[in-house]
Amino acid sequence: MTRVLEVSDVHKNFGGVRAVQGVSLKVREGQVVGLIGPNGSGKSTLLNLIAGVERPTKGAITLDGRRIDHWPAHRVVGQGIAKTHQIPKPFLAMTCRENVAVAVMFGNHGQRESAKALDEAGRVLALVGLERKADVMSSNLTVQERKRLEFARVLGTGARIVLLDEIFAGLSPEELRDAMNLFERVQKEIGFGALVVEHVMRAVLTLSEHVIVVEEGMKIAEGSPRAVVEDPAVIEAYLGVEAAHAAP
Ligand SMILES: Nc1ncnc2c1ncn2[C@@H]1O[C@H](COP(=O)(O)OP(=O)(O)OP(=O)(O)O)[C@@H](O)[C@H]1O
Ligand SMILES: [Mg+2]
Repeated sequence: MTRVLEVSDVHKNFGGVRAVQGVSLKVREGQVVGLIGPNGSGKSTLLNLIAGVERPTKGAITLDGRRIDHWPAHRVVGQGIAKTHQIPKPFLAMTCRENVAVAVMFGNHGQRESAKALDEAGRVLALVGLERKADVMSSNLTVQERKRLEFARVLGTGARIVLLDEIFAGLSPEELRDAMNLFERVQKEIGFGALVVEHVMRAVLTLSEHVIVVEEGMKIAEGSPRAVVEDPAVIEAYLGVEAAHAAP
């Protein structure tokens, strides 16, 4: 069965801060959806709400029609939805292989045997090109390698819908090209659905079939990558009012 994640009119307040204000979106297994918006527009908060790290103030989040918005995070992971952290948070005293093995054991696989989990972790690390770092302590990784390890941990859970928070940030043009190729290859191979939060426009527009734009917690546009970049509201949000008026 194709899994479907649906966010319906979700709100999140942090005291007086209205971080998310009535956002709705849908991600199907196999589909890559981009989520873009200026700093502080509520993107990470939305991912945290879906992952069960935060509770919505209002609204519903469902997986295959079942409400998941009151579930603890580990139950969400167990049902096949996993998220990377915007700032990577590996277990620093563990090797890369052990980090991914933890994800395998606590994820969707139901694999409780550590030897088998370590084997599976090795396979996942090879998938993301980190096989040579498998036995290196995660504390010794570069920032970019840590981001890749975050991606591997999400894949290790066996997630059918992945939530990626800026995994392409801070790369050189060459590294970005490699990372995008890797993502496309792995996505085709595994067939997961993805909600991809990203400031790097080239990555979002190339990888996503559908793009959602948020500003100040509200959805201001959505559609194909091409339709979204030509949308006056999006141009205004990104470049200011003058640029919007100057647009053809
Ligand atoms: N735990 C929290 N407590 C209080 N305020 C929060 C919390 N998390 C987020 N916020 C606020 O909610 C708003 C949205 O933040 P969020 O991190 O979701 O934005 P973002 O779109 O991910 O931004 P960026 O592109 O910079 O990562 C911001 O005003 C932020 O300060
Ligand atoms: Mg963020």
